[in-house]
Amino acid sequence: MLTANEIRDSFVKFFESKGHQIVPSAPMVIKDDPTLMFTNAGMNQFKDIILGNHPAKYKRVTDSQKCLRVSGKHNDLEEVGHDTYHHTMFEMLGNWSFGDYFKKEAISWAYEYLVSVLKLDPKDLYVTVFEGSPSEGISRDDEAAGYWGQFFPEDHIINGNKHDNFWEMGDTGPCGPCSEIHIDSRSAEEKAAVPGRELVNKDHPQVIEIWNLVFMQYNRKADGTLEPLPAKVIDTGMGFERLVRTLQGKTSNYDTDVFQPIIKAIGDLSGKKYGDDEKVDVAMRVVADHIRTIAFSITDGQLPSNAKAGYVIRRILRRAVRYAYTFLGQKQVFMYKLLPVLIENMGGAYPELKAQQALIEKVMKEEEESFLRTLETGIRLLDKTMAETKAAGKTEISGVDAFTLYDTFGFPFDLTELILRENGLTADVKGFEAEMQKQKERARNAAAVETGDWVTLKEGETTFVGYDYTEYETSILRYRQIKQKNQTLYQIVLSDTPFYAESGGQVGDTGVLVSEFETIDIIDTKKENNLPIHIAKKLPEHLEAPMMACVDTDKRAACAANHSCTHLLDEALRQVLGTHVEQKGSLVTPDSLRFDFSHFQKVTPEQIREVEHLVNAKIRENVPLTEYRNLPIEKAKELGAIALFGEKYGDEVRVVQFGSSIEFCGGTHVSATGKIGMVKIISESSVAAGVRRIEAVTGAKVEEMFDTVQDTINDLKALFNNAPDLKAAISKYIEENAGLKKQMEEFMKEKEAAVKNKLIEGAKEINGVKVIQAVLPMPADAVKNIAFQLKGQFPENLFVVIGSVFENKPLLTVTMSDDQVKAGLNAGQLVREAAKLIQGGGGGQPHFATAGGKNPDGLSAAVDKIVSLAGF
Ligand code: ALA
Repeated sequence: MLTANEIRDSFVKFFESKGHQIVPSAPMVIKDDPTLMFTNAGMNQFKDIILGNHPAKYKRVTDSQKCLRVSGKHNDLEEVGHDTYHHTMFEMLGNWSFGDYFKKEAISWAYEYLVSVLKLDPKDLYVTVFEGSPSEGISRDDEAAGYWGQFFPEDHIINGNKHDNFWEMGDTGPCGPCSEIHIDSRSAEEKAAVPGRELVNKDHPQVIEIWNLVFMQYNRKADGTLEPLPAKVIDTGMGFERLVRTLQGKTSNYDTDVFQPIIKAIGDLSGKKYGDDEKVDVAMRVVADHIRTIAFSITDGQLPSNAKAGYVIRRILRRAVRYAYTFLGQKQVFMYKLLPVLIENMGGAYPELKAQQALIEKVMKEEEESFLRTLETGIRLLDKTMAETKAAGKTEISGVDAFTLYDTFGFPFDLTELILRENGLTADVKGFEAEMQKQKERARNAAAVETGDWVTLKEGETTFVGYDYTEYETSILRYRQIKQKNQTLYQIVLSDTPFYAESGGQVGDTGVLVSEFETIDIIDTKKENNLPIHIAKKLPEHLEAPMMACVDTDKRAACAANHSCTHLLDEALRQVLGTHVEQKGSLVTPDSLRFDFSHFQKVTPEQIREVEHLVNAKIRENVPLTEYRNLPIEKAKELGAIALFGEKYGDEVRVVQFGSSIEFCGGTHVSATGKIGMVKIISESSVAAGVRRIEAVTGAKVEEMFDTVQDTINDLKALFNNAPDLKAAISKYIEENAGLKKQMEEFMKEKEAAVKNKLIEGAKEINGVKVIQAVLPMPADAVKNIAFQLKGQFPENLFVVIGSVFENKPLLTVTMSDDQVKAGLNAGQLVREAAKLIQGGGGGQPHFATAGGKNPDGLSAAVDKIVSLAGF
């Protein structure tokens, strides 16, 4: 029996024998494509070629691509765990032709690979072809059907509708009919009873699609119409885990060697057995599936967070924790303990997992811990909701409540339903779905971009000249209009451009397009499918005129300084903290730089200073830039260049070197480090478990910062009469102040004692009780002290009422000995009653109470009233 690793290998080797170049998987997390957060198909990394933005280096390629289908157009998340063949992360085996071979070869090689190489029985295979769409003027794909007809009898070739047999990568762009290959893995008896063709695309767990061959021959325009694609493309995708299952004779993907070691480890850790109880099995499948997604995402640079792609990953982790909590009895952190098994299993094909094991473990453990805390809050909330529902005589909790549990506390709806059922309740399913729909719409509206079709003025490709020039003569190749949040913008593609498009953390250039007729502002430059796109608020009137593209050079120079400085910081951090430091994120703007890196403790102020000193020394050395534009990747590695995990590198890379700092990098840099001027780190913080963030400024911004600091110091000096030693002057001031405060307290104490004695002197004895009544100009705490001292001094037969005014605010204070309370008096009631006279309110305990108010004029009357209410 072939192992999973052997099967992966056999696929790419087969297509290599058919003239295909084997390429590595692109990262699963996508960074430079506004339309996609994660790689969801093998073709993603070739979008720029398919769209014609770049020529294909190889006309035939093949690979195994890490994919994630958890958001957007292709989203399988809710299915995962409940069936045996959907996954969040999966591998897609694929072969591509860019304007080379088409349907005939794609079909015959697919057949050859499955039947001649893998020895699958063609009787178990069914293929589908597009039935056509008369409304769009597309007829049935007879061409594909004809080629399939050479291998299969008619009853194994099935017509399919647009949903299953017309593949589109997005709302617009290249698309075309496709043929799916399905396999029937049922027993002979089952096959005899119901022919496989009747179960194709019917969600039968044993009759499943394994391979999709897409014949891209159209381009879908923004108005929905189709036009023929000049260079036709073959794009195929085979579900690796499904293929492995078929070849290993299993009925579930989870029974293959891709998942079994993980399932076994989950069993060992939880003491549960796979295959005994469906609920436990679902939970085990969820955990086994999700741990791969989480580990690979972190490896590719996407940490869990509370926004966008990071939030998707967080939700997946929470879903797994939730299932493990409920069905596997895991009330403590547990998933991160499965990593060694995952890495042992997949680390061979994906060495980046092993290299980042410590970070993945740390991040997962912390996320699990924090979610378990949230979960407990969620469970309490659900308990409360259930109690309220029952108290109201109802049996159904609202959709809104169920949705809050889902959205904020990560409770999958089916689990909420289960807990409810255990308590004899249900949830409003329709209400829940409506909330879900609303959220989707909110997300869609926030992201809604109306994109027009490209208007092509000239054919051609963009040449980027920005490493050598900041001004360049150019012309417009094409443009389109986009509308987002009520703003209309234009995207412009130039024949040559010096504008750097946002990527690798460095923001895009701004500047102008100048022709003899007009000047147009370029407000940003971004990359889409590897194409630099210039963004403007309006289009030139003379679109075809030759023009100069001019970059804002001040901003560019500031960006370059910050980018080069980031490289020096990276190196210095590795020197000071250790070589475990790896870049986890970066933002380079003209104003500052931000650098996120793996490190498990806070960086101490001493370390920060050491890093700054190292970088500033490198700056003063004025190390010149050495740039390698098209270095073969092997040569770059020999140089010792630092590459980032989760980045896609071609065969040839750009390497940026400043002495011993050597990095793979596409950004713009200073010609020598002296131009950075100076660096100052302005903050150090934590972004996530095991990831620290440093923010720094360089050059003129350091000067600005020093100016501000200097101004503050000068202002302080002026406040201290230009004392030559400011620190000593401030220390002296603080000391003096503390001394004065102490004196003041002592003085107050004496004064309180004096006042107290006066009050005792003035006390009246009424019915054997010492009654003290007074109005004093004193702050509240002094009055309180006096009242407590009196009570301490006269534990029996005492009644005190003091009205006081401080800063024009009246206050009533009443205290008495405990025997008076026993005799029926209550200080709280007395002040409340009398407070009306000072327009206020208050309260307290029976033996001590106060009331504040607004009207100091009523104070005397209020004091009298209290005395009379008390019956003295
Ligand atoms: N791009 C095609 C798919 O994902 C092969 O199904």
